[in-house]
Amino acid sequence: MRDRNSPIVREFSDLVEEREDDFRISTTAYWDRKVYEAELSNIFYATWMFLGHESEIPMPGDFKTVQIGERSVFIIRDASNSINAFINACAHRGAALCRTEYGNKRVITCPYHAWSFTPGGKLLGLPDPSRFPASFSKEEHGLTRMAQTVNHHGLLFGTFNTKAPSFEDYLGPAARYFDLWLKRAVDGTFKVGRAHKYAYCGNWKFQSENVIDGYHPQIVHRAAFGTLGKFGGANQRKDFVGTNDTFQGGCTRGLSGGHSTLEARVFFESSLVDAQTSKQYIDNVIAKYGAEVAKEVLSNRHLLLFPNVALMDHLLRVWFPVGVDRTEVFSYPLRNEGISPALDSGRFLDSQLMFSASGFVGPDDLDIFAAAQTGARSVGVGALVLSRGMEKETITSTGERIGEYGDEVPQRSFWRQWQVLMQAGEDKGVCS
Ligand code: FES
Ligand SMILES: [Fe+2]
Repeated sequence: MRDRNSPIVREFSDLVEEREDDFRISTTAYWDRKVYEAELSNIFYATWMFLGHESEIPMPGDFKTVQIGERSVFIIRDASNSINAFINACAHRGAALCRTEYGNKRVITCPYHAWSFTPGGKLLGLPDPSRFPASFSKEEHGLTRMAQTVNHHGLLFGTFNTKAPSFEDYLGPAARYFDLWLKRAVDGTFKVGRAHKYAYCGNWKFQSENVIDGYHPQIVHRAAFGTLGKFGGANQRKDFVGTNDTFQGGCTRGLSGGHSTLEARVFFESSLVDAQTSKQYIDNVIAKYGAEVAKEVLSNRHLLLFPNVALMDHLLRVWFPVGVDRTEVFSYPLRNEGISPALDSGRFLDSQLMFSASGFVGPDDLDIFAAAQTGARSVGVGALVLSRGMEKETITSTGERIGEYGDEVPQRSFWRQWQVLMQAGEDKGVCS
C-alpha cells in the first residue's frame, strides 16, 4: 500500500488494495480533505442519492430541503401532485429559496429580490421586469432541476449527474432485496415519521461500513443487549425464518454496485408488540406472498444501498458527510397504515428505543466512529484490514458473494464500488 503523502501517489483509487487473500484500506481515505472533496464530486454528486419519502410532503406546496455535501436541493409537491427536485438556488442571483427543512410554499418567493416561482419551477413574476433587456424571457429563468429523479414506491431518489446510469441499473441486484423490504409493508404503503437527527465526529464511511457489520454487535452493543434483555428485550427473536435455513446463523451478501446485506435469517419483532398481533402480521405476509417468499421478507435484514442509505426492519437511515470528519445521520422510523395500529406503534417505539440519538443501541456505534476517526488519523497506522471471510466466500451464478454473518463481505463490496467511482473521476481528471 502506497502512502498518500508520498509524491508518487496520484490516484485516490490506490487507497484500496485487494489481493486474493488480503484487502486493505489506507487510513488516508478517512481523514484526507482532498479525498473528501473527490468523494463529493465522484460519489455524492455522481450517483443516486436518497432525497426523501413522498409521505414527508403530502400536500401541494409541501417541501423538504436536503443537503448533499455542499449542495442544497429541495423536493416540492406541485399542484398536480408531481414531486419535483430543484437545486436550492434562485434563478436570479442564486440565493437559497427554501431555508427551513420542511414547509409549504404555494409560491416560492426569493428572499433577496422577490422573484417568485411555481412549485413546478416556472418563473412566475419579478418586481419591475421592464428594467431587464427586451430579450429577457421568464421562460428561460425557471428553477434548475436535479439531472434525474425517480419515485421508487414512494422513496424519492435523485442525481446531479445527467450521465448516471438509470436508477434500475444503479440498483442492479439490490432491487431484489429492496423489493423484499417493501413487502414487509404487506400492502406496500410505508410512510416515514420525522427523522431522528444526529451527527458524529467521524468520517461518513464508518457508518456505511458499520450498518452491515455483523462482527461488532456482540462486542459494541453487549451492554445494551444485556440491559434490554433484563426487561424482555426490545427485539424478540421468532423462529419462523431460521428453521432449516441454509444460512443458519445469518449471512452477509456483497452485491455489485457496492450494495450489500447483513441478514440474521430470523424474524425479529418488537417486544412492544403482543404475540397474537405479531402472529397475525406473519400470517398476513404468508397469505399475501406464500411461505417461501414470506420467509425472505421476514428475515431480519439490513440492506445498504451504496453509498449512504440503509433499509432496516423498522427504519430507513441515510447519512451525509459535512466534512471529512463529521457526518449527519437521519434515521426515519417506518410507519405503516396497512397493519394494525398496535403493530405500527410498537415498532415505532422500538425504533426510538433502539436507534434514536438517545437509544440503547445507536449511540454505541457513534462512540466507535469517533474512536475510529482518532485512530485513522494517528500516525503509524497505514492500512485497515477488511479480509475477514476472504477465501471462504461463496460466489453464486449471479455474482453475489455470500459470507457468514460476521464476515467483511459487505465492506469489500462497498470499497470496490468506491474505488470504481473514484477511478472514474480520476480518468475524467476531476480529482487528481
Ligand atoms: S437572488 Fe433571488 S431574486 Fe435576486
Ligand atoms: Fe452497531
